[in-house]
Order: sequence, then structure tokens, then C-alpha cells
Amino acid sequence: MTTLGIIGAGHIGSQVARAAVTAGYDVVISNSRGPETLSDLVAELGPKAQAAIPAEAGAAGDVVVVTVPLHALADVPVEPLSGKIVLDTNNYYFERDGHIDALDKGETTSSQMLQEHLPTSKVAKAFNHIRSEDITTDVAPAGTPNRRALATSSDFPEAVEFATKLYDEFGFDTVNVGPLSESWRVERDRPAYVVRQNADELKANLAKANRLP
Ligand SMILES: NC(=O)c1ccc[n+]([C@@H]2O[C@H](COP(=O)([O-])OP(=O)(O)OC[C@H]3O[C@@H](n4cnc5c(N)ncnc54)[C@H](OP(=O)(O)O)[C@@H]3O)[C@@H](O)[C@H]2O)c1
Repeated sequence: MTTLGIIGAGHIGSQVARAAVTAGYDVVISNSRGPETLSDLVAELGPKAQAAIPAEAGAAGDVVVVTVPLHALADVPVEPLSGKIVLDTNNYYFERDGHIDALDKGETTSSQMLQEHLPTSKVAKAFNHIRSEDITTDVAPAGTPNRRALATSSDFPEAVEFATKLYDEFGFDTVNVGPLSESWRVERDRPAYVVRQNADELKANLAKANRLP
């Protein structure tokens, strides 16, 4: 059985955990304050879920989801995630994260920053352009007309393959944006950001995005 390690247990982390347990994954979930603060969530998730500290969640995961605010990126443990696929839900909000010059100038992307922080992991951007509540509600089986699509982006084909499989198991189609250097297309203030789209609509929105919003 595949275990998802989840670093961050807020809006997105808790919803990914719910969808993952429903899809049959084991989850080990963590936050900044300690596992004891996650007892209600773990009780809700049931026997397939455990709470841990971030390094333990990272070590336990066959695949790891990083879903903390961008300003906490430097705290993400490196060694426990080595060699693993890492799904990155991050978005850059300068109001929350402080201004980051290279992002403001369009010289890098938040997911490239995580990839640089985790040089031996295989980062894929995922779940960054959907409201948390929709992760468990706007879902449909494969082949359903107008099924919602989500974007992923990675420098590693196997990470795209995993994100595609997970999206499908959760109830979404996938559009591959390409390498992390292109992941700005699905970031904040672009047409594909946090709107409901099927795969054709998402592809069209990605194509018309501008590098600087
Ligand atoms: N909300 C959305 O609908 C949405 C949609 C797509 C993408 N995103 C993006 O996904 C990321 C997470 O968003 P969110 O809304 O889930 O955030 P959130 O509700 O504020 O939750 C953040 C989680 O990260 C944990 N955390 C913070 N600093 C940490 C650290 N240094 N080490 C370990 N854990 C830490 C927090 O722990 P504590 O609870 O202990 O503080 C909390 O569990 C953000 O980049 C956000 O922009 C959000």
C-alpha cells in the first residue's frame, strides 16, 4: 500500500489527506505545532492515518505532499524526501510570504524554488489552483463529460505520471504544463488559477497566460 507523507495540515493538507484515505492510501500528516494538535483530524480520517512531525511524515511517505506557506519552504526537511516524488501545492502570495525578487521579476517559479531546496527529490506542482473544499467535492469518475481538470508540472516524467494517477483516483483529469520553469502558467493571477475547467478549457487558459501577471 502506498503511503502519502503530508507536510502541512491546513486547508489543502487536510483535504488531500481526506481524498487520499478515500482513495485507499495510508497517510502520515504533520504540521508546525506537533502531532498532538492533529488528533481530531486523525480521528476523523480513521485507521489509515497517523500524525507525526514533518521529518517523520517525510520519511514515512513513499510520495510526499508539501503544502505549507511558501515562507516556510526552508523548513521542509531535505534528507527524508531524498529520491522521492514530492507534490508541491505552493502559491506565492507576497502579502503573506514577503516579496521574493526572483518571483516578482518572473525569473523563477515557487516550485523551482522547492526543487532547488530538495535537489535529490522529484518535485511536481499539484493541487495549487483548486480551492481546498473542491478537492473532495468537484470530483467525477474518468470519462465523465466535463470532468474537472487539474494541472501538474515537473522536470521528472515519473512525477507527472504519479500526479496524473493520483488526480484520476481523486476524480480529476490532468493537463501537463511541462517543466517547472513553465509552472507560472498555472499560478496566481493567470487565467487557469482557481477556476473550474475541463481539460480543453485548462489547456486554452494555460496557452493564453502571460509571464508577468
Ligand atoms: N487554501 C487553498 O484553497 C489553497 C489552494 C491551492 C493552493 N494553496 C497553497 O497551498 C499552500 C498551503 O495552503 P493552505 O491554505 O493549506 O495553508 P494553511 O491552511 O495556512 O495551512 C498551512 C499548514 O502548514 C503548516 N506549516 C506552516 N509552517 C510550517 C513549517 N515550518 N513546518 C511544517 N508545517 C508548517 C501549518 O501548521 P500549523 O497549523 O501548525 O500552523 C498548517 O498545517 C500555500 O502555499 C497555499 O498558497 C492553498
